[in-house]
Amino acid sequence: MSATSLAPIQSTSKPPAILSLIGDTPLVEITRIDTGPCQLFVKLENQNPTGSIKDRVALAMVEAAERDGKLGPGGTIVEATAGNTGLGLALIAGAKGYRIILVIPDKMSQEKIAHVRALGAEVRLTRSDVTRGHPEYYQDVAARLAEEIPGAFYVNQFGNPANPLAHERGTGPEIWEQMRHDVDAVVVGVGSGGTLTGLSRFFSRVRPRRGVEMILADPTGSILYEYVKTGKLVEAGSWAVEGIGEDFIPDIADMSYVTDAFEIDDAESFSTARELLRLEGILGGSSTGTLVAAALRYCRQQTKRKRVVTFVADDGNKYLSKMFNDFWMADQGFGRRPTQGDLSDLISHRYEAGEVITVGPGDTLLTAVKRMRAAGVSQVPVVDENGRAIGILDESDVLVKVHHDPDHFHHEVKTAMTDRLETLSPSAKIKDLLEVFDRGRVAIVMDGNKFLGLITRSDLLSYLRRQMP
Ligand SMILES: Cc1ncc(COP(=O)(O)O)c(C=O)c1O
Repeated sequence: MSATSLAPIQSTSKPPAILSLIGDTPLVEITRIDTGPCQLFVKLENQNPTGSIKDRVALAMVEAAERDGKLGPGGTIVEATAGNTGLGLALIAGAKGYRIILVIPDKMSQEKIAHVRALGAEVRLTRSDVTRGHPEYYQDVAARLAEEIPGAFYVNQFGNPANPLAHERGTGPEIWEQMRHDVDAVVVGVGSGGTLTGLSRFFSRVRPRRGVEMILADPTGSILYEYVKTGKLVEAGSWAVEGIGEDFIPDIADMSYVTDAFEIDDAESFSTARELLRLEGILGGSSTGTLVAAALRYCRQQTKRKRVVTFVADDGNKYLSKMFNDFWMADQGFGRRPTQGDLSDLISHRYEAGEVITVGPGDTLLTAVKRMRAAGVSQVPVVDENGRAIGILDESDVLVKVHHDPDHFHHEVKTAMTDRLETLSPSAKIKDLLEVFDRGRVAIVMDGNKFLGLITRSDLLSYLRRQMP
């Protein structure tokens, strides 16, 4: 029986207890990374139910809409996001029995879309190549949908006062108590500005005279750093860190509270997040890298001991296939390996380093297919017990064998593999590679008898992209 034909599990009308676990997150001190004269603490917002700080604001914005009569029984929640706010809203909509529609730009990862769908959200994909004012701009689509659907409420986290209020009433007081009323600086990122504005309001109230410094951590490419430093609005670039940085100043972001700012590029954000995991055991997302990197720069500039707080704003699990994946990092041009100046530089997975998925000639076709699926590849080299590449097996080789009789999945790889290999030496040229691809094959790179790895079309594309000025 397929999973979808199972009878649904019966539910009661009670909301799930998980909502009571939003907020009250732990605070932990950074002890192994050098923090100069300062003490640095991180608040583990990844421990909220959907793994981010946004659960707090999602709950606050829905409850405020209920109080204001903007959302009632049978109502629909509409928001424009595929990010953490969408996850938080989808959880809360499900818990409270609302319909939820998320308008998502089509560049968002399949994993994120799958995650919000699994929580019960309806997804409307829209174009990601258009900006504010275009009818298909995702925020405009969401606003329009909310007008058209009776009983719909457009959350609009960028302009919703309940967003900063969640931090003013929740996150701020928690930090204040956890730090025993002794905190000198808070390092924040700005997405909607809710965290910055809410915390700033809270701390300026509880510590009006000496104040708590509000430090902005901004990805290189975002306009906010320049705005804080010079008051100028510059043109935005692009950045890969997710959840923070903007190309406009959101309505609820009160930048006047910011006392200093640090600009952190993607490479530093990613390497800091990886170091945080390695040294402190904390698995944070990409923006955590930005925040901790900025906090460390601030800390190391100090001459007196200061007590500093920053955030693990979301969970690193979402980034295992990106920032925590060495192949993705190399493909994006981060943390590149030393180059040889020859074709071997194009090999993304090196055989000698144990990075290549292979099969043996005596493995079954079923084993080979399972291995290809698990690794997300459509072909594997066949390597014998002496480490020699003796063939290559791709999906069409398997199909030829099994399409008449699926029992042939039990046959050995050597009966289906192609043994006419397209081998190239590391000194071959890109032109030679293209000829191999023209014949519909992948290149096997051999240094004499030594198998170095495969080069596919996608490896060549990645290599050429990295050469872009
Ligand atoms: C992943 C992520 N989302 C959101 C935020 C905060 O966003 P906002 O300005 O919307 O409160 C942060 C801040 O650090 C973040 O790292």
